[in-house]
Formats: sequence, C-alpha cells, structure tokens
Amino acid sequence: MRHLIAANWKMHGDLSWADKPDEFEALLSKTDRADIDILICPPFPLLTALKNDHKIHIGAQNCHAAVKGAHTGEVSVGLLKSAGASYVIVGHSERRSDGESDADVKAKAEAVLAGGLTPIICVGESLDVRESGKAVSHVEAQLEASLPEDTSNIVIAYEPIWAIGTGKVASIDDIEQMHGFIRKMVGPYIQLLYGGSVKPGNAKAILGTDNVNGALIGGASLEMDSLSQIARAAL
Ligand code: PGA
Repeated sequence: MRHLIAANWKMHGDLSWADKPDEFEALLSKTDRADIDILICPPFPLLTALKNDHKIHIGAQNCHAAVKGAHTGEVSVGLLKSAGASYVIVGHSERRSDGESDADVKAKAEAVLAGGLTPIICVGESLDVRESGKAVSHVEAQLEASLPEDTSNIVIAYEPIWAIGTGKVASIDDIEQMHGFIRKMVGPYIQLLYGGSVKPGNAKAILGTDNVNGALIGGASLEMDSLSQIARAAL
C-alpha cells in the first residue's frame, strides 16, 4: 500500500508559509517520491494561499458536519473542497479534548465523504488508559463509534495522546500491536497512519512497522527539512 506522509501544521504559520511546498520540492523532487503521497494540512486561510504546483495534497484540520447554515466560525466541506483540500482531519485528540464526541467525529467523517473528500479519522488513548492496560479496547470503542457507515475511502490515524507533542513515542511493539488490531477490525485496504512525535530519527523504524501506511506529523512537519527527511524514510 502507498504511504501517506501527512503534515498537521495545527495553529502555526502565516501567509509567508505559502512558499513551503516550493521549499519541500527543492528538497525532494516529484520523481523521488513517486511512490508516496505528501499532504499538508495548514490552518484554513493558508489553504488557498499555498503555492502548490507540485502534486502535494492539501487538507484541512477540521470541518463542520452540516453542508451550510448558521454556524458562526465554522467551515463547510464544500468550501474546503473548492479551496483545494482533498483530505480533512477529523477527531484529532486536541479537538476531542475540547469536547468533540465520537458521534461528532462520525458526523464529520460522513460529511467529508459526502463532499467527495477523504477523512483522516484520529483515535488514540490517554496515558491513564494505556497504563491501565485498556488501550486496545479504548481504541476499539472509539473506532466503533467514530467510523462512517461506508469505510471504503477513509484513512485512520492512531495517535496515542501521551505521545503527541511530548517527544515520547510508542514502542515499535505497541505500534505493531495496535495497528495489527485496527487492521483486523477494518480490513486490508484502509491506510493506517501513526502519529505522535514522529521525527526524522524514528521515522524509518515506525514507517517500516507492519500495518503502518504513513504518518501524521505535527511538530516535525513545520520545517520542510525534517518533513522531507521523514518522507525519505518512507521510500
Ligand atoms: P506531533 O503531533 O508530531 O507534534 O507529536 C502529531 C499530531 O498531533 O498529529
């Protein structure tokens, strides 16, 4: 299966970051990366600004579940699509911790699919849950409640919350166990990403793990140098 290297810029950057795809291209040419997909998910205003002649996919970090309406401050899937997005991250733990429920995540994933884009559905356990030995059953319950009815065009990102932005990474054994479990649950065709402190130094081992089909990268995606090194590790 192709690898997807997905950058989640979170709330970083300004309009000068529109040049980052050019910078990325200078570091890793199109032919170098013919076998992988690169995705950048910037804050909303950068979606249309990103100078992207390079076949880098562009995605959003969130959307609203409704097609349109009186939802101040929200953005619809239709608008994201017209701005050039082909993926939308839904259910990131930073949004779940702000009150987004499994049902909300499912509704958003359904909306993304209905709009013709691909949802990247995030799941993952807290440190307490991991230490109580219930990580797998927690992720199972999240997936059961957050996945859309039709799973033929989705991506799943397993991101242990305690590994996000902390420099702590799940062990290769833990990643292999969780991804193996998710693979059994969802079947052979869905791309499974790992996220949580993926860096140039650990990318090769993580991306070489069974049932890991790419990575969702926060901190290390802000510099094109480290993002390109991670992408190279997937080749
Ligand atoms: P991180 O973030 O790479 O900075 O840990 C990953 C994410 O939140 O998607």
